[in-house]
Amino acid sequence: MPHFLDIHTTDKSALRAMIDQARAIKDARNGLPKATPDAEQPLANHMVALIFEKPSTRTRVSFDVGVRQMGGQTMVLSGNEMQLGHGETIADTARVLSRYVDLIMIRTFEETVLQEMAEYASVPVINGLTNRSHPCQIMADVMTFEEHRGPIAGRKVVWCGDGNNVCASFLHAAGQFGFDLTFTGPEALDPDPEFVARARDQGAQVEIIRDPARAVEGADLVVADTWVSMHDSQSNRERRHNLLRPYQVNDALMAQAKPDALFMHCLPAHREEEVTNAVMDGPQSVVFDEAENRLHAQKAIMRYCLGV
Ligand code: CP
Ligand code: NVA
Repeated sequence: MPHFLDIHTTDKSALRAMIDQARAIKDARNGLPKATPDAEQPLANHMVALIFEKPSTRTRVSFDVGVRQMGGQTMVLSGNEMQLGHGETIADTARVLSRYVDLIMIRTFEETVLQEMAEYASVPVINGLTNRSHPCQIMADVMTFEEHRGPIAGRKVVWCGDGNNVCASFLHAAGQFGFDLTFTGPEALDPDPEFVARARDQGAQVEIIRDPARAVEGADLVVADTWVSMHDSQSNRERRHNLLRPYQVNDALMAQAKPDALFMHCLPAHREEEVTNAVMDGPQSVVFDEAENRLHAQKAIMRYCLGV
């Protein structure tokens, strides 16, 4: 079953084909009104369930619009309005949904929920973010980098801040797409060593450098994310802010990277916390291209899952 659960568990050549297809899909829509269907309608007669156990703007809207442009239909479900949020097992939910829909996208907390959904569903399952990873985002980010700067292989990406779920998917992508990744952040918030080791095993150069100014030297891409993720306890908020403040991406830090380095953020951003307004709105920032590319990249992901 071609699920899309993570970048490191998806075949490398399939990932490359998805990025290339996403770019072709985007080019083919150039200038079309948003409600105009794609010329190809590969999701005609397909029904897609989009399940959210956490808030979302981009994932929700981009999947919904993407399915509709490809001729399919969607239902957006909130976890706590389903029996899933009231004691029905994930396995039973997966088996029931598979009788109604052709594809399931789920945003949830624990990785085990996603794994169990995929194990018991008889239709493909897509990871729309868990506490551990956010693969759809990084597919859009790879696409965005390549649109602006050409092949990402061999380039240097620097992650600033918390070694969180989005950072994990960047590490997965470093191994699969062959770019180097430097993590700069406090030791207490280091990325999972298993993900670091896997990327290194795949030949990516992965470094952990505590000094952010030194870390971004030679960077082709600088990336930030929120200091407090949706799954993090609010009681740790102040501690996290104190630990992460030295890793804010601002003009002084960007000046240490390559002059043509790009800045990315998956959004939502907390302006003047992890990134300044000057960087977010500055000439190196491609954050809204990333957001747009979620739409195109996820179309390619859904086509891969459905084999259409
Ligand atoms: N980047 C991202 O996944 O955004 P949402 O939380 O708005 O879906
Ligand atoms: N790390 C963030 C990403 C949001 C898209 C979170 O999990 O809240």
